[in-house]
Amino acid sequence: MITLQRALLRWARQARRDLPWRRTRDPWAILVSEVMLQQTQVARVVPRYEAFLSRFPSPAACATAPAAEVIRLWAGLGYNRRALALHRAARAAVAGGGRLPDTLEGLAALPGVGPYTARAVLAFAFERDVAVLDANARRVLSRALGAAVTQAAADALVPPGRSWEWNQGVLDLGATVCRPQPRCDACPLTGACAWRLSGRERPDPWPRRRPQARFEGSDRQGRGRLVSILRDRPLAWDEVPAAAGWPDDPGRAEAVVRSLVAEGLVVAEDGRLRLP
Ligand code: ADE
Repeated sequence: MITLQRALLRWARQARRDLPWRRTRDPWAILVSEVMLQQTQVARVVPRYEAFLSRFPSPAACATAPAAEVIRLWAGLGYNRRALALHRAARAAVAGGGRLPDTLEGLAALPGVGPYTARAVLAFAFERDVAVLDANARRVLSRALGAAVTQAAADALVPPGRSWEWNQGVLDLGATVCRPQPRCDACPLTGACAWRLSGRERPDPWPRRRPQARFEGSDRQGRGRLVSILRDRPLAWDEVPAAAGWPDDPGRAEAVVRSLVAEGLVVAEDGRLRLP
């Protein structure tokens, strides 16, 4: 094992955050956590993860519920399309025998599951030797290696047989120390980090993501308002502009509803709108 691996594993053991999805190896629970964590912060996810799994402890429990119930449990997480995708993934798992697949191809074929989430389930549920490379892991490993990390390079760094603790450690380091503004004085990789060893003179090799688009005034905000009301009651079409927050722009409100209907998040029926 190289110094970098040894140093990170040692640090990870004592710095590990106690998060509920780290107390299980159940693939369904891990998938739920990872889909929630795709676009929502850890602190916001924890209570909703627990509520979701109490109601839907298995793919079968989720698959037999109407989508509306899954969308209701998604309240507060944002990006409601993920709820619908998770519901569809549960139905696909049930159609495939009731269990989630344990291969990259099988997982990535599920609705809402991209290569990142598929690898996270492989590493955190099945303890396979693959690297989990979300935006935070990319930043940590790119700095450590001194250049934008590839999936193949990240996979090669996983200490064989210790993928679970390695990947959780990389995520913990990214969340607490190797932040966008790094706290190098608290970092266990001193002496093993290429960027640090270069005196941080070379440009930060971290491949930055596009910043998230403004929420205030966006279509996403209007979508969120509509779904939020629809969680409680159906809406008549003439209520839509006000419900979306655009009383003076019915055209915009209607276009947003059409997109929600096209995606399957909303059903238009008998002149009213409701959750599916
Ligand atoms: N973000 C994505 N997966 C995570 C995990 N397992 N722990 C903490 N943050 C995460």
